[in-house]
Amino acid sequence: MGHDKLRKFAENETFSCLLQPTAEQVLSKGYANLTDHPVKGNWIGQMFGGHEGDIILELGCGKGEYTLELARRNPDKNYIGVDIKGARLWRGAKTATQEGLRNVAFLRTRIEFITAFFGPEEVSEIWLTFSDPQLRASENKRLSSAMFLERYRSFLRRDGVIHLKTDSRFLHEYTMAVARVNSLPILACTTDLYSDVLGLGTTAGVTSLRGSTLPQDQTSDLPTEVREVKTFYETMFLEMGLPITYMEFKPFKEGPYVNPRDPEDFDTKHWREVEGTRRSFGHK
Ligand SMILES: C[S@@+](CC[C@H](N)C(=O)[O-])C[C@H]1O[C@@H](n2cnc3c(N)ncnc32)[C@H](O)[C@@H]1O
Repeated sequence: MGHDKLRKFAENETFSCLLQPTAEQVLSKGYANLTDHPVKGNWIGQMFGGHEGDIILELGCGKGEYTLELARRNPDKNYIGVDIKGARLWRGAKTATQEGLRNVAFLRTRIEFITAFFGPEEVSEIWLTFSDPQLRASENKRLSSAMFLERYRSFLRRDGVIHLKTDSRFLHEYTMAVARVNSLPILACTTDLYSDVLGLGTTAGVTSLRGSTLPQDQTSDLPTEVREVKTFYETMFLEMGLPITYMEFKPFKEGPYVNPRDPEDFDTKHWREVEGTRRSFGHK
């Protein structure tokens, strides 16, 4: 391991906003029966100094751009960035410490273990920012699959929402299909978030569904932070000229979640081809 990483890992131990449970703590009873962490149901008291307010998660936060900026803008709410990579979390935790942001925490864990850390109704929103689309892997690895929605349901409020911002048209269309087959309300959706920065007035490909009249081609009521906050990966993809997609939906439902049927609901082969070389290029 490089010297810089070692230095960051050592400094991580000093950040009070960073929780780094060991895998053994969570897995002492095995994968099928995760051990609850003491912070579960107690984030406000244990990590936010009793600061009451909604809790919002950024899953796969990397350096935590959304966690930090949303926390600066909304001091009445509490934000938690989750990632497995310590060197990336170091950036977020360092900034939060330097700025004295008391409504920010970071959690270093695999997202697969997330149910061990949050209690019923403890979380009100989830941001998925540039998540790995898992193009070739089992769909159960995608953070918007039925399996993950099942996990989120154990701690997300019934009226909670999920934001998905990505450069991956594959993941965007997959998540739209998940929402459709589970009859989950989609609040906003665009396949090209920044297309109207060219001054076109209306935004091609954007549908905002918040209003009762289901207005088309209106983006004014998208949360402003969707365009104003850019993550590390997003900046990279924008420099490459790639369109950024966004959707917001309400994941709560009664009964089991289902994955989209292939190809009727989501044509995996087709969307892999669309993504194809562009995506693998993006990841190099
Ligand atoms: C493409 S990066 C995006 C990072 C950041 N959100 C951004 O936009 O710059 C995906 C992030 O998800 C994290 N990640 C992927 N799978 C994960 C998992 N199963 N558990 C925790 N973190 C994961 C990676 O470590 C990485 O930081």
